[in-house]
Amino acid sequence: MSTESKSKKRTLKPIDARQPTVRKMDFDGMSDLPEHYFAGNSFVTHIINAYHILFPEGERFFIKSVKAYSDQVIDSQLQTNIKAFIGQEVQHGKEHEKVLEILARQGRPVERFVRFFEWSAFRMMLPFFEFFFGKKLKLSVTAGMEHYTATMGEITLRHGFHENAFGDMRNLLLWHACEEIEHKSVAYDVLRTVSNSYTLRIFGFFLASWIFWGYVVFFQHWFLLTDPEIGWKRYFQDMNSSRVYGRILFTETVKAFFLYLKPGFHPSQTGGYEMADRALATI
Ligand SMILES: [Fe+2]
Ligand SMILES: [Fe+2]
Repeated sequence: MSTESKSKKRTLKPIDARQPTVRKMDFDGMSDLPEHYFAGNSFVTHIINAYHILFPEGERFFIKSVKAYSDQVIDSQLQTNIKAFIGQEVQHGKEHEKVLEILARQGRPVERFVRFFEWSAFRMMLPFFEFFFGKKLKLSVTAGMEHYTATMGEITLRHGFHENAFGDMRNLLLWHACEEIEHKSVAYDVLRTVSNSYTLRIFGFFLASWIFWGYVVFFQHWFLLTDPEIGWKRYFQDMNSSRVYGRILFTETVKAFFLYLKPGFHPSQTGGYEMADRALATI
């Protein structure tokens, strides 16, 4: 189903990449969320669940990383956009935390997953590499992660993936995708303000790639293994029927990966702003 076909009276402020806005949401229509809320497919549902695990902690990390360098930003527009970026990420974290509560009620061991993620990524891995690359590494990882969240947002909207999600989960994924597109240049511009190092940008991106994909596949399988409804037969059935999404995701993220490696890359080059604005109007 196209996003346009669901268009209705607009209640949310339009997408404006030059000046992002904080939009407070309250997705409360998820109390009856089915266990496999994405097209009845456990393989894809648990990938999205893995992102629900990553987001609240990850977004707190983005905020801290950008805040640490905001006093070095002279450009007043970028200063304003940093505030909006922080506000948007706070709201995203809040809504994803509500989903974690629902998943916990469904019997998923989310607390253990979040603890493991926080400990291994933010207490072990990043401090280890920070020792060699310095404090700016966290900002570089954030810029890299933001490239992935925006890319995922663009893929979601372009292919209407969110339309397969149940009820308010559709709206949550859609809203988050739109705002990731809207603020995708902010962390990158802060990084450019404080460092011109290509090595730093790319090494941070490699770590971001590991966090964004390594942890997602890991948590997806941890979810699948602890899902009482999923045995080997259903695992392979759902994996097979998720290929249609997997192929798109794989080819588009590989393209996005190589794009970020280009020395003259800037997040605004991939656009997607009008698409995000049209999609947001359907909430
Ligand atoms: Fe976000
Ligand atoms: Fe973001």
